[in-house]
Amino acid sequence: MNKKMPYFDYLLAGLDKGSASLEKSFGLHVHWGYWSQPKLALFTSEDYLVAAEALTSLIYSSAQVSDGQRVLDVGCGFGGTIDAINKAFQNMGLVGLNIDERQLERARQQIFAIGENSVEFQQGDACALPFEDNSFDVVLAVECIFHFPSRELFFQEAYRVLKPGGYLALSDFLLNKNLSKLDKRIGLQNSSTQFFGSCNVDFTVDAYRQLAQSIQFEIELVKNITHNSLPTYKYLKSLIKPSNLPIIKRMGILATIGLIELLSKLRLLNYVVFAFKKPQI
Ligand SMILES: C[S@@+](CC[C@H](N)C(=O)[O-])C[C@H]1O[C@@H](n2cnc3c(N)ncnc32)[C@H](O)[C@@H]1O
Repeated sequence: MNKKMPYFDYLLAGLDKGSASLEKSFGLHVHWGYWSQPKLALFTSEDYLVAAEALTSLIYSSAQVSDGQRVLDVGCGFGGTIDAINKAFQNMGLVGLNIDERQLERARQQIFAIGENSVEFQQGDACALPFEDNSFDVVLAVECIFHFPSRELFFQEAYRVLKPGGYLALSDFLLNKNLSKLDKRIGLQNSSTQFFGSCNVDFTVDAYRQLAQSIQFEIELVKNITHNSLPTYKYLKSLIKPSNLPIIKRMGILATIGLIELLSKLRLLNYVVFAFKKPQI
């Protein structure tokens, strides 16, 4: 099954052509960067990779990942989060799940279990997890929940597959409540769909609180990292401007990224990390 996400088509085509800067910055992790001091961002592919690793580390640390655990990374992309955990921990059972088999093929070609760890990449949908109840210590979803058919279904599934005491950690883009009413006029959902595919950013921190409560997850962390992720936009634009995409397409993508950057600078679109705990029985 191949869900339409045009940015992955561009990315895979660029990687196939051997773009060194794409390979370095987006060949492993496909998400925004985290800079503890955004003013010091260097806007190079090397610096971007460090920032992408920092975001991954922030999310898996929020889920209290430790040696000897079974960890599921949902929407695993090219396997960057599995790779980071594989390198940092021992005796791990690591499973990456993704809807897009092309991404999984790349993950399988570049990530191999270290020491006593095991690594597995499996095709599947976040909202129908092909795993048994109570089978993971941690579930992660790095920058992908807005693509899923339903946050509610994903939460039910994450809760089901987690062991009691297990953690779910994720990052998400949340549109300011008032702005989501205006969105038809701004056209954010519409213009971003053409590059990012189907995305639902019409959710709030309060909606997360209600969702967690309805499923009986305890909220452990809500961290707004919009400020720390802002250098991403300038870096993305520097990658897209010189690309050989047709000019109309390039202008459209740059306009979308510019709009998302502006909304983020105005804090009308926020990038937030969450961690939830399934209570011990
Ligand atoms: C922005 S990428 C993030 C990839 C990866 N988490 C990372 O941080 O590098 C979003 C990912 O969500 C995946 N995805 C979208 N819908 C999905 C679904 N219903 N089930 C599983 N994965 C999905 C996409 O294929 C893509 O890999």
